[in-house]
Amino acid sequence: MPPRKLHIKSYGCQMNVYDAQRMADTLAGEGFVETASAEEADLVILNTCHIREKASEKVYSELGRLRAAKDQAARDGRGMSVVVAGCVAQAEGDEIIRRAPVVDVVVGPQSYHHLPQLLARAKADGRALETEFPVEDKFGFLPQPSRRAIRARGVSAFVTVQEGCDKFCTFCVVPYTRGAEMSRPVEMIVEDVQRLADNGVREITLIGQNVNAYHGDGPDGRPWPFGKLLHRLAGIPGIVRLRYSTSHPRDVEETLIEAHRDLAALMPFVHLPAQSGSDRILAAMNRRHTADDYRRVIDRFRRVRPDIAFSSDFIVGFPGETEQDFAATLALVAQIGYAGAYSFKYSPRPGTPAAEMKETVSTADMDERLARLQSLIDSQQSAFNTASIGRTVDVLFERAARNAGQIVGRTAYLQPAHVMASDDIIGQVLPVAVESLERYSLLGSLASLSRAPVNDAPAKAAPSQATMGV
Ligand code: 5AD
Ligand code: SF4
Repeated sequence: MPPRKLHIKSYGCQMNVYDAQRMADTLAGEGFVETASAEEADLVILNTCHIREKASEKVYSELGRLRAAKDQAARDGRGMSVVVAGCVAQAEGDEIIRRAPVVDVVVGPQSYHHLPQLLARAKADGRALETEFPVEDKFGFLPQPSRRAIRARGVSAFVTVQEGCDKFCTFCVVPYTRGAEMSRPVEMIVEDVQRLADNGVREITLIGQNVNAYHGDGPDGRPWPFGKLLHRLAGIPGIVRLRYSTSHPRDVEETLIEAHRDLAALMPFVHLPAQSGSDRILAAMNRRHTADDYRRVIDRFRRVRPDIAFSSDFIVGFPGETEQDFAATLALVAQIGYAGAYSFKYSPRPGTPAAEMKETVSTADMDERLARLQSLIDSQQSAFNTASIGRTVDVLFERAARNAGQIVGRTAYLQPAHVMASDDIIGQVLPVAVESLERYSLLGSLASLSRAPVNDAPAKAAPSQATMGV
């Protein structure tokens, strides 16, 4: 039987990117190979995001398009199955089944290891829905990627260390869609990282909705804090860079600060969402930290790693946000000086406490505040990137660039950097003399290899990966 074709379209955060890979690994065992085209696929999975309104609207318009593709597939005499996975599936499973007859299976993030059975059930019964939080830990059931899959995915990989969130920020759906906070055991993570390293991965990004709340069981039978996990992983041969995302300012323990002080592999670039600079709004958001608490956390990082840079998330127009509250956010941003940040208009999420709040901010005010905040962030980001010009910075080379002869990699601050070189530098960290900047990309040349690698530049980057949670 020829291999069946699988197309996965992921929206939203890094966790979804990672989950998509795990679903592909699970379905590889069922004879599916991935294809870039939804139209020619036998199985299409929409891996959805529910964090803001637009994200879930996109799902329904995508399902409209898929209906046409599925009809065409039927006319061509072949079947196409459509699966909705991810957080919209979790939050609105019943409604999806009701509203979108094109959908065969709805599966929540905790049940991806059941996908083969769900597809079989849909075949037998017409459709299948699973959005319970099963008692077993899905991580014990999700298969490891094959060596080929690891190599095809490149030198940088995500590894989930925790999932879910118990913080219940009043605007956020994550505690409802991803469930209670749980951490994977240390040894399981070590095994995953070792296997990735053995197959050419050089950089690991540890992911979770609230990654620094990590408290997984260690081999000594005790819960390990996040910093201790980082120390353990930094000792794995082949791993030259470690990153993590996303962190909560309240969970920055001393072991994490020590890890930044002690581990050369731990990159000095931290995504630390603030959400607002107003204590009144932070309290209404149930963030459980003040703007000054946040500033103090930033100072603790900076004391041990002066070259550290930060990115953040901000929400404008949270219910009751006044011009004065918004000014406090601008003041916080101006004071911290970010390498980049994401900013969002507040979007009421059904079922969250903030969605019940009455003092809504007008769309016009939200638009205007968003534009002002983004313009401040853009200017900080561009100053950060411009500061790299003329410096020598370490780059981990990842792949051939679209421009012939160029190889692209990333700096410590996730800035893309391009050089002319042969592709045997892929997988290596090499110093690059930065000559110019093109949009967010640094252009330069390999610095003389006789020079020691330099990692000093407070060169600034667009945080180029999607973020999640916190
Ligand atoms: N409205 C707007 N932005 C939100 N975020 C989370 N929930 C909402 C919401 N209801 C943002 C937060 C979070 C990021 C991933 O998305 O800033 O850190
Ligand atoms: Fe948890 Fe982050 Fe959502 Fe707050 S914003 S509830 S910390 S995932």
